[in-house]
Amino acid sequence: MYKNNNNIYENSKIISNNFYDKNHKHSLIFKLVLFLFLIALIVYLKKILFNNNKKQPFYFDQFETNIYNGIKDVLENSNCSNMWNSQRQFLNGVIRKFKPKKIVELGVSFGGSSIIILNAIKDIKYSHLYSIDVLNNEKVGSCVNKYFPQLKEKWTLFKGNIAAKYMEKIGGNIDLAFFDTTHHEPGEILDFLLILPFLKEEAVVVFHDIDHQITYSRGPMKRSEWASYIIFNIIRGEKFLPMGEGIFNKDIGAIKLEKNQKKFIHDYCRALGGQWHYFPPESHIELIINFVQKYYDRECFDTIKEAIDFNRDFVKDNPIIRYRKYINPKKSSENSTKI
Ligand SMILES: C[S@@+](CC[C@H](N)C(=O)[O-])C[C@H]1O[C@@H](n2cnc3c(N)ncnc32)[C@H](O)[C@@H]1O
Repeated sequence: MYKNNNNIYENSKIISNNFYDKNHKHSLIFKLVLFLFLIALIVYLKKILFNNNKKQPFYFDQFETNIYNGIKDVLENSNCSNMWNSQRQFLNGVIRKFKPKKIVELGVSFGGSSIIILNAIKDIKYSHLYSIDVLNNEKVGSCVNKYFPQLKEKWTLFKGNIAAKYMEKIGGNIDLAFFDTTHHEPGEILDFLLILPFLKEEAVVVFHDIDHQITYSRGPMKRSEWASYIIFNIIRGEKFLPMGEGIFNKDIGAIKLEKNQKKFIHDYCRALGGQWHYFPPESHIELIINFVQKYYDRECFDTIKEAIDFNRDFVKDNPIIRYRKYINPKKSSENSTKI
């Protein structure tokens, strides 16, 4: 009996040793798995933080400049373009990076930016530029005709009205849009809304003069150019700025739109609710209202309608002289050297 008891004791010792070994093994495995999990978590978090730092905003310096050298001298030594050289290179670089097929440009003037875009797409198959300028005079696009007529085969120019008039003709699937119009409110905020329904998902939008609230803040027009600054900053997407010292002295930037921009349209429509610096002619207002009714929802429509009705009176009481050029080009051309 005692012997038997001894056996039982021995057996239970073996069992408990086995049990201990097994448990020990399990806890080692558990610790190892936990350790590996923590390492993976740290690597993952580092990756997220690292990527975010790189993306917001991404200073863009990888220009493919060779193709730009062909037009550089003309743009530097003529009155075709009032962009800085770094801005021209940035626009060229963005086009070369994204290789867009369908491009829309708002704001042509003599055609400096049209030349940059047309030159940058000359070797991109099926690429085409549609340019729009609200003015209808000889000057609009004249530098393309004068200096680079060979680039015109990929170009369609619409003159004399706002984008709302031409967008259905141009059609959807736009890969890239370039905005350089008034910089005064409503300006580019409104222009963006007129192009947005025709943009491809994840299209690229480029805005000139995004820092005029600072770089153009002296003189009688002090602090009046906010439109590009506002819209550039509220659009959701990956932002690109030129390389170099300083933050607000680039005055140009690009955005690769986030997917599903529909989610954000109410913010974009609300951005029109500030005090406008000019009031577009009623014929343009009619086009805008019809456009918004067709391509936006009721909330956007109501928001924009209210902004229009408020600003119709507001601008009457607070006109900005320099901007008369837009409202009545003939009467005030001597007051207006630059829009
Ligand atoms: C700053 S200039 C454009 C300069 C040109 N992008 C360049 O870099 O050489 C602005 C032009 O925008 C035009 N403009 C103003 N408002 C506009 C609008 N809503 N739609 C289209 N063009 C507009 C003006 O007539 C003017 O020619």
